[in-house]
Amino acid sequence: MLVNAAEMTKKAREGHYAVGQFNINNLEWTKAILLTAEEMKSPVILGVSEGAGKYMTGFSTVAAMVKAMDESLGITVPVALHLDHGTYAGCYKCIKAGFTSIMFDGSHFPIEENVEKTKELVNVTRQLGMSLEAEVGAIGGEEDGVIGMGECADPQECKRIADLGVDMLAAGIGNIHGVYPPNWKGLSFETLQAVADTVGHDMPLVLHGGTGIPDDQVKKAISMGVSKVNVNTECQLVFAAATREYIEAGKDKVGKGFDPRKLLLPGTEAIKAKVREKMEIFGSVGKA
Ligand code: 13P
Repeated sequence: MLVNAAEMTKKAREGHYAVGQFNINNLEWTKAILLTAEEMKSPVILGVSEGAGKYMTGFSTVAAMVKAMDESLGITVPVALHLDHGTYAGCYKCIKAGFTSIMFDGSHFPIEENVEKTKELVNVTRQLGMSLEAEVGAIGGEEDGVIGMGECADPQECKRIADLGVDMLAAGIGNIHGVYPPNWKGLSFETLQAVADTVGHDMPLVLHGGTGIPDDQVKKAISMGVSKVNVNTECQLVFAAATREYIEAGKDKVGKGFDPRKLLLPGTEAIKAKVREKMEIFGSVGKA
């Protein structure tokens, strides 16, 4: 059931759990995540970066695929189709394409410009019944060519953006995209506490860079107000490892093992197992 992400993250904030955003790259990814969400009776957010949207030939292709697949698989749990780290122009493309949710990442703009553009998008998304995530304090690491510095957000700036009426707020708390370097200092719970206290305890906060954050830190962040956790790289890593194992074992050379429906199956199953594991950690199982 395609819905926006406002209600599901609001319920998660109240219920002290988090909804997983899992990024999609193609049909296999989408199918694996939708089927797992249904199996776990969990709400889910399908994240689409601008790079992944382009790879899949455009946001309207993605929206058409997700809508059709949601229906043909008979998915009953709430599913949001969400733009990840959207540019201003990308947000309007996804609004036009029929996404149910967008993230406007104005974190690299001066705060006044971030406020101005976010405010405009709050009005547009409200009118259309979509949800909006905004960001303050860039997330570190590299994702699809978007390189952030990994700063901690300023709670007062977070409040300015939150007060505009956004549905979800991503605040940098030392998290980065991709695999964490060995000298990473961990999440800044001090910043998270200050942000939650300043913006108010009903605002669903978003933790980006879910890959590789130790489970106990993720759970602590959820207990302090994180209601959405984004995971991308980890699904890519398990997909690649399972595919490598299949090929290295020579299974593609046995019978019709080269058939893409067989070749891509171990990777798809690995994504399912990873999504199951994350939904358990996030506490969203049975919350649909
Ligand atoms: P990872 O790739 O580190 O899991 O981050 C995903 C993310 O935050 C998407 O916005």
